[in-house]
Amino acid sequence: MCDKCKERFFITTPIYYPSDKLHIGHTYCTVATDAMARYKRMRGFDVCFLTGTDEHGQKIETKAKEANTTPKAFVDNIVEGEKGVKDLWKLMNISYDRFIRTTDPYHMETVQKVFKKMYEKGDIYKGTYEGMYCTPCESFWTASQLKDGKCPDCGREVQPAQEEAYFFRLSKYAQQIRNLLVNTDFLEPRSRVNEMVHNFLDPGLEDLCVSRTSFTWGIPVDFDPGHVVYVWLDALFNYTSALGFLNDHCNDYEKYWPADVHFVGKEIVRFHSIIWPAMLMSMEMPLPKKVFGHGWLLLDGGKMSKSKGNVVDPYLLAERYGTDALRFFLLRTFPFGSDGNFSNEALISCINTDLANDLGNLVSRTIAMAQKYFGASLCANQVEDAEKDTELVELVSGLAGRYEEQMEKFAFQNALSEIFKVIGRANKYIDENEPWRLAKDEANFPRLARVLYNLLETVRICAGLLRPFMPGTADEIAARLGGARTDWDSLTTFGLLPRDVATVAGPVMFPRIDIDKELKELEAAIAAQAAPQEDPLPEPLPEITFDAFEKVEMTVVKVLGCEKVKKSEKLLKFTLDDGTGTPRQILSGIAKYYQPEELLGKTLVAVTNLAPRKMMGQLSCGMLLSAERGDKLNLIMLDDSIAAGSRLV
Ligand code: MSP
Repeated sequence: MCDKCKERFFITTPIYYPSDKLHIGHTYCTVATDAMARYKRMRGFDVCFLTGTDEHGQKIETKAKEANTTPKAFVDNIVEGEKGVKDLWKLMNISYDRFIRTTDPYHMETVQKVFKKMYEKGDIYKGTYEGMYCTPCESFWTASQLKDGKCPDCGREVQPAQEEAYFFRLSKYAQQIRNLLVNTDFLEPRSRVNEMVHNFLDPGLEDLCVSRTSFTWGIPVDFDPGHVVYVWLDALFNYTSALGFLNDHCNDYEKYWPADVHFVGKEIVRFHSIIWPAMLMSMEMPLPKKVFGHGWLLLDGGKMSKSKGNVVDPYLLAERYGTDALRFFLLRTFPFGSDGNFSNEALISCINTDLANDLGNLVSRTIAMAQKYFGASLCANQVEDAEKDTELVELVSGLAGRYEEQMEKFAFQNALSEIFKVIGRANKYIDENEPWRLAKDEANFPRLARVLYNLLETVRICAGLLRPFMPGTADEIAARLGGARTDWDSLTTFGLLPRDVATVAGPVMFPRIDIDKELKELEAAIAAQAAPQEDPLPEPLPEITFDAFEKVEMTVVKVLGCEKVKKSEKLLKFTLDDGTGTPRQILSGIAKYYQPEELLGKTLVAVTNLAPRKMMGQLSCGMLLSAERGDKLNLIMLDDSIAAGSRLV
């Protein structure tokens, strides 16, 4: 296919909230999207795979405040920092083409323009919001939407809220959305359509509040200062701003929009199948071709979440078992459209059964026999397949077709099942043909070569089809088959492997794991990770001269008086005996750590030649020394027998 006539395929994951480190549940959707993107590339499509991070909103603002940093620095760390979002995608071998951050200026420009356009059209108007607000979900709910008085998404407490706000006329599009959901295949699986109709369309769509004034960490509504754009309007338009819609970042909107599919978790299907198409209708933009709402990975039957403390760390698992094994497990074990229960045991069993016993065994046995009986290269010329080969050969020949049928439905588990049926059959074929017995008589060598050829060819086709799931493993197997072809066209035809293929031996690809021993070790590793970590050491300071050090006057002082400074949460005011006979006043920002009364009479150290400065209108003459690490602080206290005014040298 020439580059110009290549069909486009635009696929997206949800953009992740960088409020905490990502867990295996987040990894699940990204791995699935990656498998689909790789599959489509293999099929010759011009693929654009978009992922990114959704960085605005109250939750991030609050978290940043708690961490004593700015929201931007906070999200930068989780997105770009060590073991952050981008590191995780690298580790998981995610082949995204674009990574958007909603704090990227070009995205913010798009959102402001979209907001204004909808406002000018009359689809966004100003009103007053009264309702219940769920802070963690950033969602307003009407009384009828609450479940037992709590947030219907996460089950947490909601608070009454009222504010002047802008609204999007979602109600105007109710009928069009109903048609879209009920009469087309826009939303899959079908069960999600029933959920949307029953939970949201039947009760009636109300207009949606799309601005906030209660916090500032968002994209400002440029024509009304004080309002920031609702985080979901902001986030949803990432799918088009990333392509250059209403910005100059790039020029791919015409090329890739509408998206072929948005993969999203089930709790955000409402945003993608109701609110998103309604906004696109308002903007008179084409709708995405499909939204697929996948299920959750559950732990002990419940959703993983950082606040519940039951998250599974993908780093730990990928480092222990390898990226490919983890990617494979996620898509082999859980049907994409439904929930699935994650367990360490299921992961290890899957590696043992499918990868060590079935795939690993087939590859290593076959190549080992080819090497043992034929040395450098096989010579499988001229010998026709025997009748007993037909079943395997037919099964392998039709595999790409059966696999394709499942992949086109996003049924990853079924696609893998097709491959593993063939792998199972091939292992049985070895037992049926007993190559070791054939090898005993030279007259059987042509037949032996044929048996091994059929097996190697099976391995080639399976490896090629596994590539979207396990890219590293597929490359490794292709290399062991002498660099055999594994492009799509070659996978639909049995018999393309050169008859004199030169195989290459290698180490065991998936060693069997002792499950009992490993479970214990893994659990210990998880527990060690959960144990409180030492706070990191502070950054070292640049070297100073001895002269500079000597200029700092450190004096022993006794606490004569200590009280809280009015209107300040941080400051304590000390009256100190510094040995001069004139009490010295020092203000120190340690109210969070000490009650004033517990410090009376204590012997401390102060820097006494520091230039005085005013804090909250009061003079502070010096600084008390304390030791700090992370969020712990201790004043330096000396033995009370040391006289006030003594100098530290
Ligand atoms: N920021 C929004 C998405 C905006 S898209 C325009 C968001 N972010 S999220 O980080 O909270 O979740 C991202 C995705 O991870 C969602 O699709 C969510 O369903 C998915 N998952 C989070 N936990 C999950 C599991 N335990 N299992 C499977 N997927 C899960 O929502």
